[in-house]
Amino acid sequence: MSILPEPVSAALYLVAAVCFILALKGLSGPRTARRGNLIGASGAAIAVVTVFLSTDFDGARLWLALIAVVIGAVISVPIARRIQMTNMPQLVALLNGVGGGAAAMVGLIELQEWAGTAGYVATFATAAAILIGSMSFAGSIVTFLKLQGIMTARPIVLPGAIAIMFIGMAITAALAIVVAITGSFGWGLALIAAGLASGVLFVLPVGGADVPIVISLLNAFTGIAVAASGFAMPNTLMLVAGILVGASGTVLTLAMAAGMGRSVVGILFGALQGGSTAGSTQESDRPVRRATPDDVATALAFARKVVVVPGYGLAVAQAQHVLHELVTALRSEHNVEAVYGIHPVAGRMPGHMNVLLAEANVPYELLIEAEDANPQMPATDIVMVVGANDVVNPAARDDPQSSIYGMPIIDADFAGQVFFFKRSMRPGFAGIENELLFDDKTQLVFGDAKESLTAVNAALKEV
Ligand code: TAP
Repeated sequence: MSILPEPVSAALYLVAAVCFILALKGLSGPRTARRGNLIGASGAAIAVVTVFLSTDFDGARLWLALIAVVIGAVISVPIARRIQMTNMPQLVALLNGVGGGAAAMVGLIELQEWAGTAGYVATFATAAAILIGSMSFAGSIVTFLKLQGIMTARPIVLPGAIAIMFIGMAITAALAIVVAITGSFGWGLALIAAGLASGVLFVLPVGGADVPIVISLLNAFTGIAVAASGFAMPNTLMLVAGILVGASGTVLTLAMAAGMGRSVVGILFGALQGGSTAGSTQESDRPVRRATPDDVATALAFARKVVVVPGYGLAVAQAQHVLHELVTALRSEHNVEAVYGIHPVAGRMPGHMNVLLAEANVPYELLIEAEDANPQMPATDIVMVVGANDVVNPAARDDPQSSIYGMPIIDADFAGQVFFFKRSMRPGFAGIENELLFDDKTQLVFGDAKESLTAVNAALKEV
């Protein structure tokens, strides 16, 4: 017998749904993200407890459900506690895959319980949950393997990939229609197999650096699968939570693609059309002007306004703490107005720079979004580009022939002077030359960003 009467459990589901919406609102800014996360976790806790108190379990099933919760917690809590920030995309991929797999399983169990007695609307929604959930599960596992370095991060294009894709899509769509019409459990199993194969084929051609965008898209898929399951069961909370995840995942995917000035279709299928999502790594041999850490320290100490533009290399070098030390010293000891200019797709995952700098306890008010940083550039004395490249490449703004034309950038070239911290003349992710490296106002500090910044910090103490 369930403990909670129906109206009470419905009210608690409503509270959980409101928590999820408030969580999304909180997660939209670094200042409120921690609170948003807690509100979302509270909503999930309310939802889980409500399920247990409002469901008629027969004895053994209650214990099975409780054991499953304990096993899940024992595995996931230590992983979540120990995970390194740089490995976060892999964890998100795994958790997302588990969600998609769970939605597919729920759909399959519904088919078994209905045994062909349900209406078409319910079986259609269930077929969608099984297909999208199993695709999301398999695709997420492949993204995990790519990011973890267990399989190659390069795009994998099978011989005849386009034909395989179209034939696979036709077979999968046919199976989904059969399941929707017959509600057959056996065909449901076949649909799971087709969904798993489609998920793998969908992600194989995507290059490693584009994988975070695919994870976000698969996250949207999982949301849609959960919503379809919720519709079929019917369960209002699954429906609402699924729609929220589906919508926010879609918005994030589009925002990332826009931030890179690329289309989602190009990111997913670029490699199938012969283009590669991985850029060139050819080094340029054109002459550049160099600076030593001493030169940088002297220039910084006498500047009025400095904008630091961090990028992927800051994460590689794990230089966020030394960078924070430098900016703090400039602000407190040299009275320099030093801030960080944050590009939306700097790094390799959404919010990468925000997360990295938060790890070093950089105050949020020092983080300036690209669109707010740009009007300040002409009045900026020095831009320090630390491990970034594409996000300050003027070709994206000025050269219609460039592969990154149209991608919004931080206009570092409008500042008085630019220092680039990088190890070599290799290009960034897009694999194209950056004219700003050769500009008269630019000087390069070659070396690992952490080592170079440590040397600048030491030199600054002597100024
Ligand atoms: P990139 O253009 O990739 O440039 C990174 C720079 O860091 C390179 O010039 C590299 O030069 C330098 N670097 C690497 N390791 C370093 C180290 N240990 N010390 C110092 N420098 C180091 O990075 P970005 O400017 O952040 O741009 C991000 C790119 O990734 C964009 O093209 C974006 O479209 C793409 N992308 C972003 C995302 C998201 S969601 N953020 C997802 C996928 C792709 P050296 O090798 O010479 O050191």
